[in-house]
Amino acid sequence: MTVSQEPLLTLRDVQVKFPVKNDWLGRPRGYAHALNGIDLQVRPGETLGIVGESGCGKSTLAQLLMGLVAPSGGEVDWVYSTARERHRHVQIVFQDPQSSLDPRLPIWKIITEPLFALGDTPRRDMRAIAAKVAEQVGIRAEYLDRYPHQFSGGQRQRIAIARALASNPSILVLDEPTSALDISVQAQILNLLGELQRRLGLTYILISHNVSVVRHMADRVAVMYLGQIVELGDAEQVLGQPRHPYTQLLLEAVPKLGVALDDAYVSAATELPGNRVLPGGCFFLERCLRRTQGCEKPQRLAGGVHQQVRCHLAL
Ligand SMILES: Nc1ncnc2c1ncn2[C@@H]1O[C@H](COP(=O)(O)OP(=O)(O)OP(=O)(O)O)[C@@H](O)[C@H]1O
Ligand code: SF4
Ligand SMILES: [Mg+2]
Repeated sequence: MTVSQEPLLTLRDVQVKFPVKNDWLGRPRGYAHALNGIDLQVRPGETLGIVGESGCGKSTLAQLLMGLVAPSGGEVDWVYSTARERHRHVQIVFQDPQSSLDPRLPIWKIITEPLFALGDTPRRDMRAIAAKVAEQVGIRAEYLDRYPHQFSGGQRQRIAIARALASNPSILVLDEPTSALDISVQAQILNLLGELQRRLGLTYILISHNVSVVRHMADRVAVMYLGQIVELGDAEQVLGQPRHPYTQLLLEAVPKLGVALDDAYVSAATELPGNRVLPGGCFFLERCLRRTQGCEKPQRLAGGVHQQVRCHLAL
């Protein structure tokens, strides 16, 4: 990882809210506040892990990065100057290859979908490109005319990764890339991702419930809670010496390798509060065992380059 290089992406105080329940005139009655002031940079060649329990806004962040949802506040600055360049350079791999691959298409067409969408690759070149990226992910070229149902779950995820690689991107957003797979296959896919990163110099934004997956893969980690980043920094630091009470609780709740965060966490604490009406002070206050005077004020993410925390007690 070359830290001195210009960031590929900078988010400043980014917010995303979704209208919920319209009244009879079609006006929203309220909002789900999915992202509530995200400040983040993504550096070339790194793997940035994003962890947090279900509903904290991880996939909304992925959708924002893919341009699928618009920010309702704040700034999203890419190093790429045009939307076209961004479409080429930023690709996504979803959790479930079963639903993300069109069952009616042979896999060579699935793999080259992003190239069709970009529209500047001659059709006669498509198959050769599909063969090349399929080979990179360990799918043999003679299988290119087969359909998704003819492959196993792990192979389908390889095909999804091949599709993400077809446009020769710089950044892959990996939204729970192994959560839908059998345990035995998960490690193979993570190893493949590691190998592709080394070979192709890719940058990864790796979203996962699974702390051990993030520990294994990430250079830096962002811990999300209720649409905010509560702790951000070097993976070793954040996962080894967590300073935010939420991160501490989260890691205590993951006693063994391979335990999904939600499964472990739900028993350890109460439910994630709703995101319709946001708390005025610290977002974690309701659940925090260390709350004290000062917690009723809004908290900001602060600290050094290696670890930042959104909690006045941890500073
Ligand atoms: N299209 C939408 N319309 C309304 N609300 C939405 C929409 N997408 C997300 N939300 C809400 O935004 C919040 C964050 O959801 P998001 O899917 O980003 O969470 P997540 O961290 O990815 O959860 P999971 O781990 O379960 O995938 C949730 O409250 C969710 O209900
Ligand atoms: S600011 Fe207070 S309530 Fe929030 S995490 Fe820190 S100690 Fe807990
Ligand atoms: Mg999600």
